[in-house]
Amino acid sequence: MPAEGLLEPRRLFAAPVEAIWLELGFGAGEHLAAQAAAQPSRGLIGCEVFENGIVKLLAEVKQRGLANVRLFVDDARVLVQSLAAASVERIFILFPDPWPKQRHHKRRLVSAAMLDALAHVLSDGGELRLATDDMEYLRVMLGGAAAHPAFEWLARRPDDWRQRPEDWPATRYERKALAAGRRPAFLRFRRRPRACEARRV
Ligand SMILES: C[S@@+](CC[C@H](N)C(=O)[O-])C[C@H]1O[C@@H](n2cnc3c(N)ncnc32)[C@H](O)[C@@H]1O
Repeated sequence: MPAEGLLEPRRLFAAPVEAIWLELGFGAGEHLAAQAAAQPSRGLIGCEVFENGIVKLLAEVKQRGLANVRLFVDDARVLVQSLAAASVERIFILFPDPWPKQRHHKRRLVSAAMLDALAHVLSDGGELRLATDDMEYLRVMLGGAAAHPAFEWLARRPDDWRQRPEDWPATRYERKALAAGRRPAFLRFRRRPRACEARRV
């Protein structure tokens, strides 16, 4: 049972799902729709506030007949704080707004507080996937997540973060970055088992 007032996300799906995957700031939803189609046994929860993107994803869900997608159309922070501990197997935050001006940094989705919250909702062995084409935000992501006791960065060689893995569909913002000559980074972090977290095994 989740702690009182927290949401067990599997309950959102009419048919049983093996695990929950969550995408925060899905934009036009092309990545989420592709993952939902490729992973029918997973329940996909998408979070977005941009109305045109929400409408695009809903049209795609209808057209493809995807029964394993649920949407939360408000602030991602509210959603993450509402989820039960260890209730999510995989989380995607792809090309979040970099908010380059110092005075806007507090608006960034990936922050120390968000990483703590994501570590709380991810199950042991779960995965956090981040992408960005902004080098300063990349340093923040790496500084925060790679140094976080709950996360292990899965890159062993440069291509592990320079190349998008095959099971990671491209998004509109990736295409925009490439068209503008910016090279994106694709980061994968494993959620350490809670029993090993303190010892950094
Ligand atoms: C730069 S776009 C990237 C969209 C998509 N992930 C992609 O790669 O094409 C960032 C998206 O995050 C959404 N977003 C920003 N802050 C958010 C928040 N607090 N909660 C939910 N969505 C948010 C924006 O509306 C926007 O669609």
